[in-house]
Parts: sequence; structure tokens; C-alpha cells
Amino acid sequence: MPVFHTYAPEETQNLGRLLALRLRPGDIVALYGELGAGKTCLVQGICQQLGTGDPITSPTFTLVQEYRSEGWPIYHLDLYRMKRLEELYEIGYEEYLFGEGICLIEWADRMEPLLPEEVWRVHLRHGEAPRERIISISPPPDRSW
Ligand SMILES: Nc1ncnc2c1ncn2[C@@H]1O[C@H](COP(=O)(O)OP(=O)(O)OP(=O)(O)O)[C@@H](O)[C@H]1O
Ligand SMILES: [Mg+2]
Repeated sequence: MPVFHTYAPEETQNLGRLLALRLRPGDIVALYGELGAGKTCLVQGICQQLGTGDPITSPTFTLVQEYRSEGWPIYHLDLYRMKRLEELYEIGYEEYLFGEGICLIEWADRMEPLLPEEVWRVHLRHGEAPRERIISISPPPDRSW
């Protein structure tokens, strides 16, 4: 499992670009990490690489934001404000997770019981230096970094 250290938001975005090069339609990226760990920053890099011109911020009032890319749709879920798992059923989460698009999930731990095994798991945490982030990326089974 590769572990990366980044020292600026741009470096985390670049790592997102590298990850995006390995993504295929239907892939799910589960992002774990505390507030400010850099989840949205990584998502920005992924989306840049996938060719969406949309501005990427965390969806604040909705659980999911859809972006258009040159290839497949990109679904950006942010579960920070989700209170009950039922809210996912209400938005029809299956389409986002199991459809043709790429699904990027911040605060993925909140829907852990619903995640399939075939998921990219990205853990982000603060390092000792002020802008250091430690980012580990586990590919799904049968895939490699
Ligand atoms: N190495 C780094 N990588 C990513 N972000 C960094 C880094 N160093 C500093 N930052 C700053 O940390 C913040 C990361 O914010 P970001 O929104 O990506 O976090 P988040 O994990 O999505 O948080 P939230 O849980 O609130 O959605 C930004 O303000 C960014 O400028
Ligand atoms: Mg965020």
C-alpha cells in the first residue's frame, strides 16, 4: 500500500491526478480523514485529471454533487452532515455507487456497511509539519497502484 507525504495543497491535488489516471468507469474512491485533512483537495485533483471544468467544493446542502467530465459522470458525495443512513436510500445512492460513473466519497466511514469490497480506500491525516499530510492509498482487490 503506497503512502505519500505532501507539503502543500497543490501536491495533494497532484496526487489526486495520479490516482485519477488509474481509475476506470464504475470505480469508487472512499476518502477517510478528519476535518481539513485534504479530502476535497484530493477530489479536486482527481476531477481536474478527469477533465471536468466545474469548480469543486464540498457539497454543503446536498449529500451529492454531480460533475460532467470528458468521459463518465463524476459523483462527489460528502457525508459529513448525514445523520441517518436512510438519507442515502432517499437520494438513490445505488446509482452513484454501482453505475457507470466515478464515485468519490468524503467521510466514507459513515456509509461503511454499504460499501462493496471493490473500493479504493484513501486515508489522509495531518503530519507533524504544518502543511504536511500523510496519505495512504489502498487499491481494490485485483488492482494495483
Ligand atoms: N499538504 C496539504 N494537502 C492538502 N491540503 C492542505 C495541505 N496543506 C495545507 N492544506 C490546507 O488544508 C485544507 C484542506 O481542506 P480540504 O477541504 O481539502 O479538507 P477536507 O478533508 O475536505 O475537510 P472537510 O472534512 O472539512 O471536508 C485546505 O485549507 C488546504 O489549503
Ligand atoms: Mg471536504
